[in-house]
Amino acid sequence: MTRLSPRDKNAPRDVDTPSIIAGKSDVTLSQSKNTKKVFIKTYGCQMNVYDSERMADVLAPIGYAPVDTPDHADLVILNTCHIREKAAEKVYSELGRIRQHKDRNKPDMKVAVAGCVAQAEGQEIMRRAPIVDMVLGPQTYHKLPEMIAKVTREAGEVLETDFDTLEKFDHLPETRTAKGFSAFLTIQEGCDKFCTFCVVPYTRGAEVSRPVAQIVAEARSLAAQNVREITLIGQNVNAYHAQGPDGSEWGLGELIRHIALIGGIDRIRFTTSHPRDMDDALIETIGKEPKLMPYLHLPIQSGSNKILRAMNRDHSYEHYKNLIAKIRKSRPDIALSGDFIVGFPGETDADFEQTLKCVEEIGYGSSFSFKYSIRPGTPGASMHRQVPEDVKSERLKRLQDLLYTQQFAFNQSLIGRTLSVLVEGTGREDGQLFGRSPYLQGTHFNGPKDLIGQIVDVTITDAGKNSLIGKLE
Ligand code: SAH
Ligand code: SF4
Ligand code: F3S
Repeated sequence: MTRLSPRDKNAPRDVDTPSIIAGKSDVTLSQSKNTKKVFIKTYGCQMNVYDSERMADVLAPIGYAPVDTPDHADLVILNTCHIREKAAEKVYSELGRIRQHKDRNKPDMKVAVAGCVAQAEGQEIMRRAPIVDMVLGPQTYHKLPEMIAKVTREAGEVLETDFDTLEKFDHLPETRTAKGFSAFLTIQEGCDKFCTFCVVPYTRGAEVSRPVAQIVAEARSLAAQNVREITLIGQNVNAYHAQGPDGSEWGLGELIRHIALIGGIDRIRFTTSHPRDMDDALIETIGKEPKLMPYLHLPIQSGSNKILRAMNRDHSYEHYKNLIAKIRKSRPDIALSGDFIVGFPGETDADFEQTLKCVEEIGYGSSFSFKYSIRPGTPGASMHRQVPEDVKSERLKRLQDLLYTQQFAFNQSLIGRTLSVLVEGTGREDGQLFGRSPYLQGTHFNGPKDLIGQIVDVTITDAGKNSLIGKLE
């Protein structure tokens, strides 16, 4: 742990914070004495959503209960994303707002910056935003209790950005507190692919897989709390490999089939996959495992082989196209989703046309598309022939017009079909319920509240670009 310049060593010590956080028994004492409030704001991808939930699990035994606004919070944690410039800058503007709130209303509030901006710019955050008491990377949040004890005791600042990716999983509480009926479960962390545009290998560290037994224990704990759907997550989730209970090497396909055996878990998803790691065992599982939802997120980024090479994606458009054909053969009802970047350095009009052609040939049910954002320290940042901002904007618009037309057409094609919907809660209108279809669209329909948490059949009667309307069967 690196300690940074304490601001005021003589500041009064918080009497409610245990001076030594050694074991769970100390911690329970403090909980019964005082319940503090923590507000966690999550930016970025599903990995961060998972991490935020786990931070809440780590903080519960030392008396912190989660709240929905920073207004009365004793601790604010920003769980940040570094993927594009805008995402990273948001953190500093949010810190400005928090500073005003702290100065005016809550001078003893503690502020932590976690996640990928913390990992990438730890020292810089401390310098730019002195309001921040703690900086912790994505692999160190299990140390939050120690860090909180330290800053409340000594009123200094703490920076924790060690990189041992799997260590945290050995220290997180065994049980998860489920929120709702669908949950993310991290099975793989980090990335060794080093796409030339991307910060993830630097913020999350090397690619590692969690042991099967640990994953199964977590999935069981979720099932025991009425979770019906689990999304297995990782930056390269289909690179998952670990030793199975039978001693053989398991990939994601085997893991999915094993998790499907857990009673109560009726739906399984996984994200995000890389085209290079899509092996035959997984494609077979996609075809055969009924609990696996027919929706696959498989980013290609660009349709131009020249750009794919410059991005270090290590696959061609043809490889991707063949994969999709194989997957569709295995599971004909599958819907595809993808990620696209426009305006990568060196991308010409002709390269961009290849991306449009790719979208037309493949056909996507949903998608995420971005303008290339220069990330300091990545190889792309120093490449020649950066594309001007106005060209990027124009290309993004053209691409999104096409992708959204496909998305709308896909949703419309579901009208008249009966889909299974996991009911997550109520809708905005009286008597209305809200849930997710197998293809992840939000679906609204009328029905009694006791269906919340159940999987029901809904016949689709109308469809917009982003959501579906239906009738309970
Ligand atoms: N591991 C996942 C992606 C993680 S990042 C994968 O390989 O597919 C999510 C998406 O953000 C990426 O797929 C990419 O489309 C986008 N992205 C990453 N870095 C970016 C950058 N520098 N500029 C714009 N978009 C970026
Ligand atoms: Fe980033 Fe590429 Fe790794 Fe995905 S595979 S996280 S895009 S470096
Ligand atoms: Fe962002 Fe980190 Fe996820 S950079 S996209 S929060 S892995």
